[in-house]
Amino acid sequence: MAHRLFTFVACSILLTGIGTAAESASERNERMKWWREARFGMFVHWGLYSGLAGEWEGRKVADKGNMEWLQSHKGLDTYSYAKAAIPKFVPKPGFAKEWARLAKQAGCQYVVFTTKHHEGFALHDSKLTDFDAGDILNRDLVKEIVDALRAEGLRVGFYHSLIDWHHPQYDFTKAQGLPYPKGGTALGTTPRDHERYLEFLHGQANELVSNYGKIDILWWDYSSTKFDGDTAWRATDLMNAVRAKQPGVIMNNRLFRRADAGKNTTGSGPYRMDPRYGDFGTAEQHVPATGLGKDADWEACMTLNTTWGYSKYDNAWKSPRKLIRNLVDIASKGGNYLLNIGPKADGSLTPETVSSFQAIGNWMEKNSDAIRGTTAADFKLEGVDGRITTKGKTHFLILFERPSSGAIKLPIAVKSAKLDGSSLNVKTEGTSSTIELPATLPDPDATVIRLD
Ligand code: GLC
Repeated sequence: MAHRLFTFVACSILLTGIGTAAESASERNERMKWWREARFGMFVHWGLYSGLAGEWEGRKVADKGNMEWLQSHKGLDTYSYAKAAIPKFVPKPGFAKEWARLAKQAGCQYVVFTTKHHEGFALHDSKLTDFDAGDILNRDLVKEIVDALRAEGLRVGFYHSLIDWHHPQYDFTKAQGLPYPKGGTALGTTPRDHERYLEFLHGQANELVSNYGKIDILWWDYSSTKFDGDTAWRATDLMNAVRAKQPGVIMNNRLFRRADAGKNTTGSGPYRMDPRYGDFGTAEQHVPATGLGKDADWEACMTLNTTWGYSKYDNAWKSPRKLIRNLVDIASKGGNYLLNIGPKADGSLTPETVSSFQAIGNWMEKNSDAIRGTTAADFKLEGVDGRITTKGKTHFLILFERPSSGAIKLPIAVKSAKLDGSSLNVKTEGTSSTIELPATLPDPDATVIRLD
């Protein structure tokens, strides 16, 4: 017995050691490699709110905005919310295959989906609560989704909410600046013990990183400037525990919300993420004007319309052109585009969701070379609406318009410029070159010219 205990203790020390040992720059580069090359991922917001579809008691909540926040918007306690939402949440068999196929077709390399959003409902079969798919549907939806993603060769990311509007010990008095559970009965006046919520949060994270094989990304959401990090979530312990089980995992920075943990919403770089705070910065619903700095790892997450969770009322769909140009814009600033889908309660997708991703897929089929594995260029494109991406000695000139002069001057020496495999006329003088364009650009969304 004694030696077993010793082995157990020794193993635990070793395991925690993995989490805390400082990682060298080259180890970090190796771990981040696939993510830096990917440039495009799919985000999925799907939970009980998907069944409510932007409606409460038969009435529209809003035309626009975050409908995964419906519980909070309507000030509902968790019981009334769950009572109305659960019967509507009936995922059809095999639902996730459509997501995975669409992501793959569109050229995404990874998918990040909500294992639990702020409402608190866990999509996995959790031993720590009965507010989960295991207890309520007798299914493990996380497993179903993970299996579907892996079948398409996609990397797997878990979005996991730090905020919890269901858990009886999530302490709203401490949640400064963060939304807390509402509604008389749920709120009550009884003091809450946040430590017990943290045990639950850490426990569920442990289930998620232990039971589904290799997890590529953990996407935490979110902290306030007054309530973040170790005080709010025992963040360092949480990250170390996750890394001990998933040494290759890549995490965002939202367990923290402080200046040196990167800027979440505005990006005037340059900054490098201090690894204590995570691996990458998260811009939300916008592309920072200059990215988040040349060597920064960052990702812009955005919606197709204006909500993350499904709403039948939100028809503010972005055009395929806008989406393609966002992808180009983000890649040209050295970031990844995490583009969201909000499936319906049965897991099915709206026609707009499908056609948007397909449009990107059609463009990527021809042009993924100009996106995947590229970095920001170290010079600017002047006088024309377009972007530049770089891969080694190759640059990709991606044009959104044709300048009226019919030519583009670049501050680099170009040997060859090719559009759809045909060479364009290039005049090079010293370290600058002028490229002559055809009378019309073949792709009005974004025409790619390869410069070697
Ligand atoms: C915000 C919202 C949330 C959404 C997320 C995506 O943090 O609270 O609803 O999941 O942004 O980035």
